[in-house]
Amino acid sequence: MGSGQAMLLVLLSLAALCRSAMHQESTIQCGSESGPSPEWMVQHTLTPGDLRDLRVELVKTNIEAEDYSVLMNISWILRADASIRLLKATKICMTGKSHVHSYSCVRCNYTEAFQSQTRPSGGKWTFSYVGFPVELSTLYFIGAHNIPNANMNEDGPSLSVNFTSPGCLDHVMKYKKKCIEAGSLWDPNITACKKDEKMVEVNFTISSLGDRYMVLIQHNTVMGFSNVVENKLTRTSVVILVTGESEGAVVQVTPYFRTCGNDCIRRKGIVILCPQTGGPLPLDNNRAALGGWLPLFLVLLVATWVLAVGIYLTWRQERIKMMSFPTTTTLLPLIKVLVVYPSEICFHHTVCYFTDFLQNHCRSEVILEKWQKKKIAEMGPVQWLTTQKQAADRVIFLLSNDDNSICDATCGHREGSPSDNSQDLFPLAFNLFCSDLSSQNHLHKYMVVYFSGADTKNNYEALHVCPKYHLMKDSNAFRVELLRVISHVSMGKQSQACHSSYSPL
Ligand SMILES: *[C@@H]1O[C@H](CO)[C@@H](O)[C@H](O)[C@H]1NC(C)=O
Ligand SMILES: *[C@@H]1O[C@H](CO)[C@@H](O)[C@H](O)[C@H]1NC(C)=O
Ligand SMILES: *[C@@H]1O[C@H](CO)[C@@H](O)[C@H](O)[C@H]1NC(C)=O
Ligand SMILES: *[C@@H]1O[C@H](CO)[C@@H](O)[C@H](O)[C@H]1NC(C)=O
Ligand SMILES: *[C@@H]1O[C@H](CO)[C@@H](O)[C@H](O)[C@H]1NC(C)=O
Repeated sequence: MGSGQAMLLVLLSLAALCRSAMHQESTIQCGSESGPSPEWMVQHTLTPGDLRDLRVELVKTNIEAEDYSVLMNISWILRADASIRLLKATKICMTGKSHVHSYSCVRCNYTEAFQSQTRPSGGKWTFSYVGFPVELSTLYFIGAHNIPNANMNEDGPSLSVNFTSPGCLDHVMKYKKKCIEAGSLWDPNITACKKDEKMVEVNFTISSLGDRYMVLIQHNTVMGFSNVVENKLTRTSVVILVTGESEGAVVQVTPYFRTCGNDCIRRKGIVILCPQTGGPLPLDNNRAALGGWLPLFLVLLVATWVLAVGIYLTWRQERIKMMSFPTTTTLLPLIKVLVVYPSEICFHHTVCYFTDFLQNHCRSEVILEKWQKKKIAEMGPVQWLTTQKQAADRVIFLLSNDDNSICDATCGHREGSPSDNSQDLFPLAFNLFCSDLSSQNHLHKYMVVYFSGADTKNNYEALHVCPKYHLMKDSNAFRVELLRVISHVSMGKQSQACHSSYSPL
């Protein structure tokens, strides 16, 4: 080897040393690259190895552009081996699967060629890319491979991860516009306590998004519920009549905001025992004191009563318009209505809502399969349905084309909660009642009610002969029809069977 050549080599190595010392650590420059990478077209004898690790997490960004507020932070670690010298870029592709399919790729070029297998500071080479807007409750496949990639018909090394984005209650996702509109930032601070065997008191904070709510107490089955309309107070209190042991039961508050209608985020709480106030002990202690105050107390009581009656009479008209609670209506003669619905209906916000409407605004007694599971088990479904059909003044088929993912996620109905493993009665009811549908004599008993949107594309052709109603759009026509049939059944008790001031969503 000549000295000139040796000199050249020394100079070259010095230059390489200087370069690695002077230049900053390699960073990345990322840009969208949906098609194949240009390197794909060229044969490479040597290619870099795969990634060591790939992770995805959510980040909330400050970009105010609506749905782009939650992005993926994809981070990866390079494998510390000699092939890192060949690495030019890393390509990351994302496929999202929900109602809409999404697919997108980005290519991140390394700004400097890698001179060492680890960072000059010692750690592994780690990079991250923040991008790809994240939708709610969506399954994402994220795959990454290094460039130059393997030749066209070789299986290149790549790393992929699955990632399911959470729903609106997640601490990051709740800031998405869609979630905020569905009430994700509302803190109802639900407190609920068992007052006695029959009553549960529920308090919660009202949202500024709307004033209509449904409160439901359930423990495997629904034990009681009530509608609440509150536009004055910020925190409301409602007493709900329940059947069965309510301590430890779940209280669910379903809001009906203008922005999300039936699909707002429902909130839950637990029923605890009410703290014992004014028990026998303090009463004993206060008996003497009470004696002295008794006359004044009675005068006050009478005055209050007179005032209350006055107010009541003055505002009676107003009061009729307000929502009524089950206690006020169940005392009056009832119309028996059997409601049957397919299992895919979201029970809590469709069936309960409708039932509540019937009970509180149409003076109906509702028979629901869900509330008679024990009886059905004893009698057998066919016998139970036959008996109920005979007992009922009306049979309503409740249908819905509601296939909302928020419903699925929180309703739990389709996920098969422990109480839902029983047989779906709807097809049975449909087949059993089908013969009636062809006879004019029996037809008056049946009605079809659609919740949300147009007719479902369902297999229940025979139901086309029944009168059909879309709630809440046709709620007036529905009430008229319900009333008309009731007049056959029980003259005289129908005059005010339905309140006319029910306000639809
Ligand atoms: C990355 O490098 C490729 C090939 O040199 C080039 O086509 C592409 O524009 C680069 N991308 C970015 C974001 O710099
Ligand atoms: C993305 O994740 C990486 C690795 O966990 C982290 O170092 C980086 O700060 C994150 N970026 C943002 C914007 O949160
Ligand atoms: C991702 O999910 C798909 C389909 O559910 C499955 O086939 C694949 O094995 C999963 N991959 C990983 C890395 O979990
Ligand atoms: C929730 O309500 C209770 C009772 O009214 C109150 O003591 C508590 O501070 C409230 N919590 C929040 C976070 O508002
Ligand atoms: C509900 O609020 C009322 C009035 O503030 C209070 O007396 C009651 O204890 C509260 N009940 C629950 C269950 O928080």
